[in-house]
Amino acid sequence: MTGGPKAPAVIIRAALPADAPGVAHVHVESWRAAYVGIVPRPILDRLSVDRREAFWERRLADPGETRTFVAVREGRIVGFAGTGRPEDSEDAPDTAELETIYLLPDVWRIGLGRLLMARAIDELAGRGFSSAILWVLTDNVRGRRFYEALSWQADGRAKMLDFDGTPVEEMRYRLDLGGRPVPSG
Ligand SMILES: CC(C)(COP(=O)(O)OP(=O)(O)OC[C@H]1O[C@@H](n2cnc3c(N)ncnc32)[C@H](O)[C@@H]1OP(=O)(O)O)[C@@H](O)C(=O)NCCC(=O)NCCS
Repeated sequence: MTGGPKAPAVIIRAALPADAPGVAHVHVESWRAAYVGIVPRPILDRLSVDRREAFWERRLADPGETRTFVAVREGRIVGFAGTGRPEDSEDAPDTAELETIYLLPDVWRIGLGRLLMARAIDELAGRGFSSAILWVLTDNVRGRRFYEALSWQADGRAKMLDFDGTPVEEMRYRLDLGGRPVPSG
């Protein structure tokens, strides 16, 4: 791939179990950069790449209904996005959830989030999901502007998370995938 800074050479591909360390590294670095002033500092300080790696090892080895995609640039994982089924049982069976999308801060705003999102959404639409939801911290303005630019819309639902006694609000966004109904059975 050629081009200027807006078109970096990047590969978007399905994550493999061996990607767990790279995904965990991005997860922690992205949280620490994005959530300062939103998530209490002690929680950010306590984040552990080792614990995240253990989580991602299990998730990538035994994905169930989840799917994870990574963005790889110059051989290094610089971002990832993950989908799954919403935890909320009230959601229709043809609704999926964008569970995660995180990039290293040094590659923010050069188009990789858009590429990861496109891949995750294509995969969901291809499996027949007709809509997707996501939860974003209400004070995560960067994240919300990103989702809004990609046509996601706040649907009016909000809930409080408890970070060691500090309440933090998150809100739900929704995207119509225009998919076919999920075949039953
Ligand atoms: C949110 C995130 C995934 C976006 O990825 P990204 O690669 O930076 O976004 P892109 O460059 O693909 O941006 C796509 C569009 O979203 C919008 N956008 C992205 N970042 C924005 C910002 N900081 N302010 C306003 N709009 C923004 C723009 O319209 C942009 O298009 P443009 O650059 O042509 O104007 C990335 O910033 C990130 O990892 N943030 C920290 C983690 C996080 O908050 N994840 C969401 C958790 S719910």
